[in-house]
Amino acid sequence: MKHLLSTLDLSRADAIRILDIAEEMAAVGTREVKKLPALRGRTVVNLFFEDSTRTRISFEAAAKRLSADVINFSAKGSSVSKGESLKDTAQTLQAIGADAVVIRHGASGAPARLAATDWIDAPVINAGDGTHEHPTQALLDAFTLRAHWSKLHGHTSLGSDLAGMKVAIVGDILHSRVARSNLWLLRTLGAKVTMVAPPTLLPHGAASWPATISYDLDATLATGLDAVMMLRVQGERMHESFFPNTREYSRLWGFDDARLAALDARDSGETIIMHPGPMNRGLEISSAAADSPRSTVLAQVANGVAVRMAVLYLLLSGNQQRPQTPDAS
Ligand code: CP
Repeated sequence: MKHLLSTLDLSRADAIRILDIAEEMAAVGTREVKKLPALRGRTVVNLFFEDSTRTRISFEAAAKRLSADVINFSAKGSSVSKGESLKDTAQTLQAIGADAVVIRHGASGAPARLAATDWIDAPVINAGDGTHEHPTQALLDAFTLRAHWSKLHGHTSLGSDLAGMKVAIVGDILHSRVARSNLWLLRTLGAKVTMVAPPTLLPHGAASWPATISYDLDATLATGLDAVMMLRVQGERMHESFFPNTREYSRLWGFDDARLAALDARDSGETIIMHPGPMNRGLEISSAAADSPRSTVLAQVANGVAVRMAVLYLLLSGNQQRPQTPDAS
Protein backbone atom coordinates (compact mmCIF):
# COMPACT_ATOMS: atom_id res chain seq x y z
CA MET A 1 0.00 0.00 0.00
CA LYS A 2 1.34 3.44 -0.94
CA HIS A 3 -1.94 5.25 -0.13
CA LEU A 4 -5.25 4.44 1.58
CA LEU A 5 -7.99 5.83 -0.66
CA SER A 6 -10.75 3.22 -0.74
CA THR A 7 -11.63 -0.04 0.99
CA LEU A 8 -12.03 -1.50 -2.51
CA ASP A 9 -8.21 -1.44 -2.70
CA LEU A 10 -7.88 -3.74 0.33
CA SER A 11 -7.67 -7.50 -0.06
CA ARG A 12 -8.93 -9.74 2.75
CA ALA A 13 -5.30 -10.30 3.79
CA ASP A 14 -4.55 -6.54 3.76
CA ALA A 15 -7.58 -5.79 5.93
CA ILE A 16 -6.82 -8.56 8.42
CA ARG A 17 -3.19 -7.38 8.67
CA ILE A 18 -4.35 -3.84 9.49
CA LEU A 19 -6.84 -5.13 12.10
CA ASP A 20 -4.25 -7.42 13.69
CA ILE A 21 -1.69 -4.62 13.97
CA ALA A 22 -4.44 -2.35 15.35
CA GLU A 23 -4.95 -4.88 18.15
CA GLU A 24 -1.33 -4.44 19.15
CA MET A 25 -1.72 -0.68 18.94
CA ALA A 26 -4.84 -0.85 21.14
CA ALA A 27 -2.73 -2.56 23.80
CA VAL A 28 -0.35 0.44 23.73
CA GLY A 29 -3.35 2.66 24.50
CA THR A 30 -3.99 0.82 27.78
CA ARG A 31 -0.47 1.48 29.12
CA GLU A 32 0.50 4.33 31.41
CA VAL A 33 2.87 5.65 28.72
CA LYS A 34 0.80 5.44 25.52
CA LYS A 35 3.67 5.96 23.08
CA LEU A 36 5.85 4.02 20.65
CA PRO A 37 8.96 5.45 18.94
CA ALA A 38 8.02 3.96 15.53
CA LEU A 39 7.50 7.25 13.61
CA ARG A 40 9.91 9.52 15.46
CA GLY A 41 11.11 12.31 13.14
CA ARG A 42 8.21 11.87 10.67
CA THR A 43 5.62 14.57 10.01
CA VAL A 44 1.92 13.82 9.52
CA VAL A 45 -0.30 16.62 8.12
CA ASN A 46 -4.02 16.57 8.83
CA LEU A 47 -5.46 18.47 5.86
CA PHE A 48 -9.12 19.12 6.62
CA PHE A 49 -11.34 20.98 4.13
CA GLU A 50 -14.50 19.77 5.93
CA ASP A 51 -15.39 19.82 9.61
CA SER A 52 -14.51 16.86 11.80
CA THR A 53 -14.31 15.98 15.47
CA ARG A 54 -13.54 12.26 15.73
CA THR A 55 -11.43 11.66 12.61
CA ARG A 56 -9.15 14.67 13.05
CA ILE A 57 -8.41 14.22 16.75
CA SER A 58 -8.12 10.48 16.31
CA PHE A 59 -5.50 10.82 13.54
CA GLU A 60 -3.68 13.38 15.69
CA ALA A 61 -3.70 11.05 18.72
CA ALA A 62 -2.62 8.12 16.53
CA ALA A 63 0.32 10.00 15.01
CA LYS A 64 1.43 11.33 18.40
CA ARG A 65 1.25 7.88 19.99
CA LEU A 66 3.69 6.77 17.28
CA SER A 67 5.92 9.78 18.14
CA ALA A 68 5.35 11.57 14.82
CA ASP A 69 5.10 15.37 14.60
CA VAL A 70 1.61 16.53 13.63
CA ILE A 71 0.53 19.61 11.68
CA ASN A 72 -3.19 20.35 11.68
CA PHE A 73 -4.46 22.31 8.69
CA SER A 74 -8.04 23.50 8.55
CA ALA A 75 -9.28 25.12 5.35
CA LYS A 76 -11.21 27.55 7.52
CA GLY A 77 -8.83 30.37 8.33
CA SER A 78 -6.28 29.29 5.70
CA SER A 79 -5.41 30.80 2.30
CA VAL A 80 -7.99 28.46 0.73
CA SER A 81 -10.49 31.26 1.46
CA LYS A 82 -8.33 33.50 -0.77
CA GLY A 83 -8.68 31.05 -3.66
CA GLU A 84 -5.57 28.92 -3.14
CA SER A 85 -5.75 25.70 -5.17
CA LEU A 86 -5.30 22.13 -3.90
CA LYS A 87 -2.11 22.00 -5.98
CA ASP A 88 -0.59 25.01 -4.23
CA THR A 89 -1.64 23.73 -0.81
CA ALA A 90 -0.14 20.30 -1.59
CA GLN A 91 3.12 21.77 -2.89
CA THR A 92 3.36 23.86 0.29
CA LEU A 93 3.09 20.65 2.33
CA GLN A 94 5.76 19.04 0.13
CA ALA A 95 8.04 22.04 0.74
CA ILE A 96 7.71 21.74 4.52
CA GLY A 97 8.54 18.02 4.33
CA ALA A 98 5.22 16.27 5.05
CA ASP A 99 5.71 12.50 5.29
CA ALA A 100 1.97 11.66 5.17
CA VAL A 101 -1.15 13.63 4.30
CA VAL A 102 -4.48 12.79 5.88
CA ILE A 103 -7.10 14.57 3.80
CA ARG A 104 -10.81 15.22 4.31
CA HIS A 105 -12.52 17.02 1.45
CA GLY A 106 -16.06 17.82 0.39
CA ALA A 107 -15.32 16.75 -3.19
CA SER A 108 -15.52 13.03 -3.92
CA GLY A 109 -12.21 11.97 -5.46
CA ALA A 110 -10.04 14.78 -4.01
CA PRO A 111 -7.72 12.34 -2.13
CA ALA A 112 -7.33 10.18 -5.27
CA ARG A 113 -6.53 13.31 -7.29
CA LEU A 114 -3.85 14.28 -4.77
CA ALA A 115 -2.38 10.77 -4.78
CA ALA A 116 -2.25 10.70 -8.59
CA THR A 117 -0.23 13.93 -8.95
CA ASP A 118 3.45 14.71 -8.46
CA TRP A 119 2.53 17.67 -6.26
CA ILE A 120 3.51 15.67 -3.19
CA ASP A 121 5.42 12.40 -2.67
CA ALA A 122 3.86 11.42 0.65
CA PRO A 123 1.28 8.69 1.21
CA VAL A 124 -2.27 10.06 1.06
CA ILE A 125 -4.90 8.79 3.48
CA ASN A 126 -8.54 9.45 2.68
CA ALA A 127 -10.24 10.76 5.84
CA GLY A 128 -13.60 11.15 4.09
CA ASP A 129 -14.27 12.58 0.61
CA GLY A 130 -17.71 13.87 -0.28
CA THR A 131 -20.20 11.02 -0.55
CA HIS A 132 -17.50 8.65 -1.82
CA GLU A 133 -15.50 6.86 0.90
CA HIS A 134 -14.21 6.95 4.47
CA PRO A 135 -11.91 3.91 4.61
CA THR A 136 -10.50 4.31 8.14
CA GLN A 137 -14.07 4.59 9.51
CA ALA A 138 -14.86 1.25 7.86
CA LEU A 139 -11.67 -0.29 9.27
CA LEU A 140 -12.47 0.86 12.80
CA ASP A 141 -16.03 -0.43 12.39
CA ALA A 142 -14.64 -3.81 11.23
CA PHE A 143 -12.31 -3.81 14.24
CA THR A 144 -15.32 -3.18 16.54
CA LEU A 145 -17.37 -5.91 14.84
CA ARG A 146 -14.53 -8.42 15.01
CA ALA A 147 -14.05 -7.78 18.73
CA HIS A 148 -17.80 -8.30 19.32
CA TRP A 149 -17.90 -11.47 17.21
CA SER A 150 -14.87 -13.07 18.85
CA LYS A 151 -16.18 -12.26 22.35
CA LEU A 152 -19.56 -13.74 21.44
CA HIS A 153 -17.97 -16.95 20.18
CA GLY A 154 -15.12 -17.16 22.68
CA HIS A 155 -12.27 -17.20 20.17
CA THR A 156 -9.34 -14.93 19.43
CA SER A 157 -9.97 -12.24 16.86
CA LEU A 158 -6.35 -12.21 15.59
CA GLY A 159 -6.20 -13.44 12.02
CA SER A 160 -9.96 -13.75 11.63
CA ASP A 161 -12.44 -12.14 9.25
CA LEU A 162 -16.17 -11.41 9.72
CA ALA A 163 -17.56 -14.50 7.97
CA GLY A 164 -21.01 -15.35 9.29
CA MET A 165 -21.79 -11.90 10.67
CA LYS A 166 -25.08 -10.25 9.70
CA VAL A 167 -24.94 -6.45 9.59
CA ALA A 168 -27.59 -3.89 8.63
CA ILE A 169 -26.54 -0.41 7.47
CA VAL A 170 -29.49 1.90 8.02
CA GLY A 171 -30.48 5.39 6.91
CA ASP A 172 -29.10 8.03 4.58
CA ILE A 173 -27.12 5.71 2.34
CA LEU A 174 -27.35 8.09 -0.63
CA HIS A 175 -25.05 10.66 1.00
CA SER A 176 -22.96 8.29 3.14
CA ARG A 177 -19.28 7.67 2.44
CA VAL A 178 -19.30 5.54 5.61
CA ALA A 179 -21.93 3.21 4.09
CA ARG A 180 -19.93 2.71 0.89
CA SER A 181 -16.58 2.03 2.59
CA ASN A 182 -18.28 -0.29 5.07
CA LEU A 183 -20.13 -2.25 2.41
CA TRP A 184 -16.99 -2.96 0.37
CA LEU A 185 -14.94 -3.93 3.43
CA LEU A 186 -17.66 -5.99 5.12
CA ARG A 187 -18.11 -8.01 1.92
CA THR A 188 -14.34 -8.50 1.57
CA LEU A 189 -14.30 -9.83 5.14
CA GLY A 190 -17.24 -12.19 4.52
CA ALA A 191 -20.10 -10.47 6.38
CA LYS A 192 -23.65 -10.41 5.01
CA VAL A 193 -24.96 -6.86 4.60
CA THR A 194 -28.50 -5.49 4.38
CA MET A 195 -28.97 -1.85 3.39
CA VAL A 196 -32.11 -0.34 4.94
CA ALA A 197 -33.28 3.08 3.75
CA PRO A 198 -36.15 5.06 2.33
CA PRO A 199 -36.19 4.54 -1.47
CA THR A 200 -35.27 8.22 -1.90
CA LEU A 201 -32.10 7.78 0.18
CA LEU A 202 -30.65 4.91 -1.84
CA PRO A 203 -28.39 5.66 -4.84
CA HIS A 204 -29.63 4.58 -8.29
CA GLY A 205 -26.96 1.89 -8.59
CA ALA A 206 -27.67 0.29 -5.20
CA ALA A 207 -29.53 -2.66 -6.75
CA SER A 208 -26.21 -3.88 -8.18
CA TRP A 209 -24.38 -3.65 -4.83
CA PRO A 210 -23.41 -6.87 -3.00
CA ALA A 211 -26.10 -6.32 -0.36
CA THR A 212 -29.75 -7.08 0.30
CA ILE A 213 -31.89 -3.94 -0.01
CA SER A 214 -34.77 -3.39 2.44
CA TYR A 215 -37.15 -0.52 3.08
CA ASP A 216 -38.43 -2.08 6.32
CA LEU A 217 -36.25 -1.68 9.42
CA ASP A 218 -38.48 -3.74 11.74
CA ALA A 219 -38.56 -6.68 9.31
CA THR A 220 -34.76 -6.52 8.99
CA LEU A 221 -34.26 -6.37 12.77
CA ALA A 222 -36.57 -9.39 13.13
CA THR A 223 -34.17 -11.50 11.01
CA GLY A 224 -31.69 -11.45 13.92
CA LEU A 225 -28.67 -9.24 13.31
CA ASP A 226 -25.25 -9.13 14.90
CA ALA A 227 -24.99 -5.38 14.37
CA VAL A 228 -27.13 -2.51 13.24
CA MET A 229 -25.15 0.44 11.93
CA MET A 230 -27.16 3.67 12.05
CA LEU A 231 -26.13 6.48 9.68
CA ARG A 232 -26.36 10.19 10.21
CA VAL A 233 -28.99 12.02 8.17
CA GLN A 234 -26.69 14.37 6.23
CA GLY A 235 -28.82 17.51 6.09
CA GLU A 236 -25.87 19.58 4.83
CA ARG A 237 -25.77 17.51 1.61
CA MET A 238 -29.55 17.61 1.00
CA HIS A 239 -30.66 20.31 -1.41
CA GLU A 240 -34.15 18.89 -1.83
CA SER A 241 -36.62 17.04 0.39
CA PHE A 242 -35.87 13.31 0.72
CA PHE A 243 -38.59 12.43 3.27
CA PRO A 244 -41.80 14.17 4.37
CA ASN A 245 -40.67 15.16 7.87
CA THR A 246 -38.25 14.19 10.61
CA ARG A 247 -40.98 12.59 12.74
CA GLU A 248 -41.86 10.18 9.94
CA TYR A 249 -38.16 9.44 9.29
CA SER A 250 -37.60 8.55 12.97
CA ARG A 251 -40.73 6.38 13.09
CA LEU A 252 -39.79 4.38 9.99
CA TRP A 253 -35.99 4.38 9.90
CA GLY A 254 -34.74 5.65 13.26
CA PHE A 255 -33.45 3.42 16.04
CA ASP A 256 -35.97 4.67 18.60
CA ASP A 257 -36.91 3.58 22.12
CA ALA A 258 -39.55 1.12 20.87
CA ARG A 259 -37.01 -0.69 18.68
CA LEU A 260 -34.55 -0.77 21.57
CA ALA A 261 -37.24 -2.32 23.82
CA ALA A 262 -38.05 -4.89 21.12
CA LEU A 263 -34.37 -5.82 20.83
CA ASP A 264 -34.00 -6.05 24.63
CA ALA A 265 -36.95 -8.47 24.68
CA ARG A 266 -35.24 -10.65 22.04
CA ASP A 267 -31.67 -10.98 23.25
CA SER A 268 -29.29 -9.89 25.98
CA GLY A 269 -26.84 -7.86 23.95
CA GLU A 270 -25.91 -10.05 20.99
CA THR A 271 -27.02 -7.30 18.58
CA ILE A 272 -24.85 -4.21 18.92
CA ILE A 273 -25.91 -0.71 17.86
CA MET A 274 -23.24 1.24 15.96
CA HIS A 275 -23.07 4.85 14.76
CA PRO A 276 -20.02 6.56 13.21
CA GLY A 277 -20.91 9.95 14.71
CA PRO A 278 -21.70 12.74 14.84
CA MET A 279 -25.21 11.67 15.89
CA ASN A 280 -28.50 13.45 15.37
CA ARG A 281 -30.02 12.26 18.66
CA GLY A 282 -33.79 11.96 18.32
CA LEU A 283 -33.64 11.66 14.51
CA GLU A 284 -31.77 8.54 13.36
CA ILE A 285 -31.07 7.29 16.90
CA SER A 286 -32.70 7.92 20.28
CA SER A 287 -30.63 8.92 23.28
CA ALA A 288 -31.66 5.70 25.06
CA ALA A 289 -30.29 3.64 22.15
CA ALA A 290 -27.12 5.73 21.77
CA ASP A 291 -26.35 5.42 25.49
CA SER A 292 -27.52 1.81 25.96
CA PRO A 293 -25.16 -1.05 26.87
CA ARG A 294 -25.58 -2.28 23.28
CA SER A 295 -24.15 0.93 21.86
CA THR A 296 -20.56 0.79 20.61
CA VAL A 297 -20.38 4.50 19.73
CA LEU A 298 -17.54 5.30 22.16
CA ALA A 299 -15.78 1.98 21.59
CA GLN A 300 -15.73 2.87 17.88
CA VAL A 301 -14.03 6.19 18.70
CA ALA A 302 -11.43 4.46 20.90
CA ASN A 303 -10.83 1.77 18.27
CA GLY A 304 -10.33 4.51 15.68
CA VAL A 305 -7.08 5.58 17.33
CA ALA A 306 -5.66 2.05 17.23
CA VAL A 307 -6.73 1.48 13.63
CA ARG A 308 -5.27 4.81 12.50
CA MET A 309 -2.02 4.01 14.32
CA ALA A 310 -1.88 0.76 12.34
CA VAL A 311 -2.55 2.54 9.04
CA LEU A 312 0.07 5.25 9.69
CA TYR A 313 2.56 2.64 10.85
CA LEU A 314 2.09 0.48 7.75
CA LEU A 315 2.21 3.38 5.29
CA LEU A 316 5.06 5.30 6.91
CA SER A 317 7.39 2.71 8.37
CA GLY A 318 7.53 0.71 5.14
CA ASN A 319 7.45 -2.25 7.49
CA GLN A 320 4.79 -4.84 6.81
CA GLN A 321 5.69 -6.71 10.01
CA ARG A 322 4.29 -6.03 13.45
CA PRO A 323 5.82 -3.14 15.41
CA GLN A 324 8.46 -3.73 18.03
CA THR A 325 6.61 -2.71 21.18
CA PRO A 326 8.82 -1.83 24.15
CA ASP A 327 8.18 -3.90 27.25
CA ALA A 328 5.31 -2.44 29.25
CA SER A 329 7.22 -2.77 32.54
N1 CP B 1 -17.20 9.54 11.94
C1 CP B 1 -16.66 10.71 11.56
O1 CP B 1 -16.07 10.81 10.48
O2 CP B 1 -16.81 11.73 12.45
P1 CP B 1 -16.19 13.20 12.28
O3 CP B 1 -16.95 13.85 11.13
O4 CP B 1 -16.45 13.90 13.59
O5 CP B 1 -14.75 13.07 11.96
